[in-house]
Parts: sequence; structure tokens; C-alpha cells
Amino acid sequence: VVTLFKNATSLITNSPAGEGALGVIHQAAFVSDDDGRVAWVGEEVDVPESYATADAVDLEGCLVMPGWVECHTHLVFAGDRTLDYAARCRGVSYEEVAARGGGIRLSVRETRSASRETLLDLGRARLQEFLSYGVTTVEIKSGYGLSYEHELKCLEVIAQLAAEGPIRIEATVLGAHIVPDEYADRRSEYIAMLTERLLPEVARRKLARFVDVFCEVGAYTVAETREILTCAKNLGLGVKLHAEQLSRTGASQLAAEFGAVSADHLEYVDSDDAEALARAGTVAVLLPGAGLFLGGAKKPPVRLLLDAGVKVALSTDFNPGTCPSTHLPMMTTLGCSWLGLSPEEAIHGVTVNAARALALTDGRGSLAVGAPCDFSVQRIGSWQEIPYRFGHNAVEQVWVSGNRVF
Ligand code: NIG
Ligand code: FE
Repeated sequence: VVTLFKNATSLITNSPAGEGALGVIHQAAFVSDDDGRVAWVGEEVDVPESYATADAVDLEGCLVMPGWVECHTHLVFAGDRTLDYAARCRGVSYEEVAARGGGIRLSVRETRSASRETLLDLGRARLQEFLSYGVTTVEIKSGYGLSYEHELKCLEVIAQLAAEGPIRIEATVLGAHIVPDEYADRRSEYIAMLTERLLPEVARRKLARFVDVFCEVGAYTVAETREILTCAKNLGLGVKLHAEQLSRTGASQLAAEFGAVSADHLEYVDSDDAEALARAGTVAVLLPGAGLFLGGAKKPPVRLLLDAGVKVALSTDFNPGTCPSTHLPMMTTLGCSWLGLSPEEAIHGVTVNAARALALTDGRGSLAVGAPCDFSVQRIGSWQEIPYRFGHNAVEQVWVSGNRVF
């Protein structure tokens, strides 16, 4: 059905339709067409006559935001890491916790023993949390299965979550998260399993659009990462990388070389890296929740990236070890207060730039004509209050394709 939404005090379009960087329209209205796309957007006084008889929804003077895009999560896992966290609070490092058998390894053990139903139930509840913050697209990585069988199990869970809706899901295979223990002294055999079996199967069944690798000391070397990315490219899969999170490994140069859609974390990125990312059009995905949760010792150099011309997205990194929070609005606060983004840059980071980090070209992250009519309705005075009132969530309604889903 065609629906006319009216009485929005302000509407963020992220398009030239409105004023300023966010394309804000005041006293706004917009129309969702039969296909759930934005057919018209503008000031309420200018609503075309042809929509006068359409079903109308009164937004009661609320603020309207395009549906947010969460571009980096590890949402499918079982168990938790509360004991690791307690140890880290007493001063044990993330790397040390992992060396003692905790860390990603622990989540792998628990995820392997969990049934599909358990993983689905956990996934549904976590997606519902994202929805409550006005997030309508979520990227989900595998990476806690780490065997042919268990990675496919997790990817099938992701596919099932995508089929159930209403959140739009983009899947990434992170079979190269760490090398699982049983392959510790024969790493190349695990990598061969990835390149010869898992990735071809994922590509054949279209279980993921992207391949990601944790390129880091204690995870995968640059040479190993190159081998995996070469395979990904040959299979026609897009590339993302966990890069320069805990040390500078050269992963962001590799991301640029492979034309990665994004390089994520980037705490240790330098100015040469920033220029390479800019030239390649690779989006920098910053994950301040993870940085802060690990103790906040190192922040990514935001201005260095922006000044080089790199587009910056913000995400939670939702995962059991470094950011067990789905609070994407809070990440806009951390992006501003802690990393030094402007409020406009932070909002772009969870909308249009996050869409770019997923190579989405359908207009998601904006409410421009032709974009999917995905939006949240927030009872808040102005968009500036979103990063400012940290911890607050003003979302009252969420709509996907012009249908109310929350
Ligand atoms: O993005 N860096 C690697 N992966 C995750 C953490 C995963 C975990 O600790 O379970 C991250 O921070
Ligand atoms: Fe991550």
C-alpha cells in the first residue's frame, strides 16, 4: 500500500533534498510506495495532491531517522565471557586471557556445542535489541565455528535469521578468526580447508557476500591473509579485514591492495595506510565500544583518516569478547566524545557510510527518493541529542519497507 507519513518535526534524509550535511527537512512528510520505497519526501505543505487520499500516519511531531546500518557484528555465538572480563578488570590483558584458554577459543567451544535452535534464539533476541535502537540492517560474521561443519552451521543460522526478517542481514564468513586449537601445529592445513572447501561452498550457496580475516599477531599473518583474500577474490566474494587492532601488521595496506570494502578497527593505522585506504575507496569502520571495553589505551586516529579522505563508519563490533553491547546510539557518543568525530560525522557513520562499508547501493542509510522506506521514529527534540544524551534511547517506532516492525 501507499502510505503518507506526516507531522515529523524534523527528518534526516542524508540526501541533498534537505539542508546541511544530513539533509534535514523540518515539518516534513514522506511517502512509501507499493514496493516499500520512498516515493516522495519534502515539507508537509508541499505534499503532492495525488497522495491526498493515501493512508496517512501521524508521526506526532517526532524526529525521523533513516534506518541505521550496523556494519560489523559477530552476532552468532553461544555463552559469554564474563569470567574473562573479570580477569581483565583485574589487569590481565586480552591477549593473556586468550593465552590462558579463554578469549575467542572459549566462545568457539561453546558455539560448537550449541544447537542451531539455541543459536537462532540467541540471534533473534540480539537482533531485536538492535531493532529497538532503530537499526534496520545488520552485518553478521561467522567465526566461532572454525571448522567446515560449524562455520556452515553458523552461516546457515545467519541465513535463517535473514529469511525471518524484519532486519535486513548481510553475511560475512570469518572462518579465519583464529586458528582453532586442533590445527595449532598445522596452520596451513586449516587455511587449505578454508580456501579449498569452506569458501567455495559459501560462494556456491551464496551464504555470505564478504570474506573477513582477523589479521593480527596471534591470529593470521599478512602472508596467510593474502592467500585467503586471493581465494575470496577468485570466488567473486567481497573483502573486509580486521586490521591494525592490537598492533600495526600491514593489514590495511593489504585491504587497499585487494580493494576491500572496509578495513575495521584501525587503532594502529598510520598516515601511509590512511592514504592507501583513501585511494582504494576502502571505508574505515571504527569500533569505539571494543576499544573502550579493552581498556581504552589506544584510539584510532580519526582526523588522520578523515583528512586523507577516508570515509568513516561506526559500529558496535557486537561480540562476546570486546563489545557485548548492541547499543549503536552509544557508539555515536563514543565516536564524538572519545574519538573526536563531529555529531554529523557520527550520524553518517551509522547510516550512509556504514551502508558503504557493506557496498550497499540501494540507498539504505538515507531517505532519498527510491531508497527502501526503512526508518525510526524518535521522541526527541533534535538529532543532535542522539550522541549528546548518551545511554538514552528515544526510538518509539521502527518501520522497514514502509511496514511497522517495532
Ligand atoms: O572484533 N578482533 C577479533 N575479533 C573480535 C573479538 C572477538 C572476541 O573476542 O570474541 C573483535 O574485537
Ligand atoms: Fe570484530
